[in-house]
Amino acid sequence: MAVPVTHDDGEPHVPRDPELERLELELLLEAIHRRYGFDFREYAPASLKRRLWRRIRAEGLDSVSGLQEAVLHEPVVMERLLLDLSINVTSMFRDPTFYTAFRAQVVPLLKTWPFLRVWNAGCSTGEETYSLAILLREEELYDRSRIYATDINEAVLEQARAGVFPLEKMQEYTQNYLRAGGTSAFSEYYVAAYDGAQFQRSLVDNVVFAQHNLVSDRSFNEFHAIVCRNVLIYFDRSLQDRVHELFYESLAMFGVLVLGHKESIRFTRFADRYEELDASERIYRKVA
Ligand SMILES: C[S@@+](CC[C@H](N)C(=O)[O-])C[C@H]1O[C@@H](n2cnc3c(N)ncnc32)[C@H](O)[C@@H]1O
Repeated sequence: MAVPVTHDDGEPHVPRDPELERLELELLLEAIHRRYGFDFREYAPASLKRRLWRRIRAEGLDSVSGLQEAVLHEPVVMERLLLDLSINVTSMFRDPTFYTAFRAQVVPLLKTWPFLRVWNAGCSTGEETYSLAILLREEELYDRSRIYATDINEAVLEQARAGVFPLEKMQEYTQNYLRAGGTSAFSEYYVAAYDGAQFQRSLVDNVVFAQHNLVSDRSFNEFHAIVCRNVLIYFDRSLQDRVHELFYESLAMFGVLVLGHKESIRFTRFADRYEELDASERIYRKVA
């Protein structure tokens, strides 16, 4: 049975014995890593703790150790926890100004390559991937592009592959699309079906959806653009550095890296390998 994706950050939890709880947390994260290979050991602790406690309560448990036992013995609990930890909030043409900047500053660069590989890392339920596909199609780049859309979480990838998004969101997404510089009628891209808006299958003809863990998996291709928005914000500094190393290694020279509005290359050790194409939209180009 599909487990619903949750967007709730959970209630704050005040530990009775903070030292003991820190130890329990360390052991839980170590256990998850060793049993399932998911590495949350360097995720920002405050948000992580809220989400863990949300799952502890939802499972009817009362301690972090209780959750550890459940996770180790019941993979289905791990599946539910994964959804809680992987913060899947997303939308189509999220931050429309980013898309207008992408059209103005990145598209002309992409047009200089005969074939394009774009990595949409941390694509969640796919709204961002479909937005990129629409943009590339309108800019007449889609036919020579392949988009690799990856996420740690197989459940959100299933939704992304289906390409059915809530109908009630279409008004908001239409507004975003228009503000993002869309050049057609947004309603041309979907039909009402399956209690939702089913997006054109042709938008994903050139998309490969695949599970990939930014923390522990390696580079799998060379890309002309990497779009990874609102993912690194949940990682601590050293983990961000590791992922930036992966991005740097995976980008072609003069390839473009895009981060979310609250993320930056600036304080990482790769800062001087990129030039800023658009500082406020966090668009960078690899130059060294
Ligand atoms: C907040 S969503 C961002 C979605 C989209 N990029 C956007 O900006 O709308 C963060 C996504 O990152 C994914 N994620 C978290 N940790 C990850 C990891 N280690 N490797 C790959 N994806 C990860 C989550 O599963 C989630 O779908």
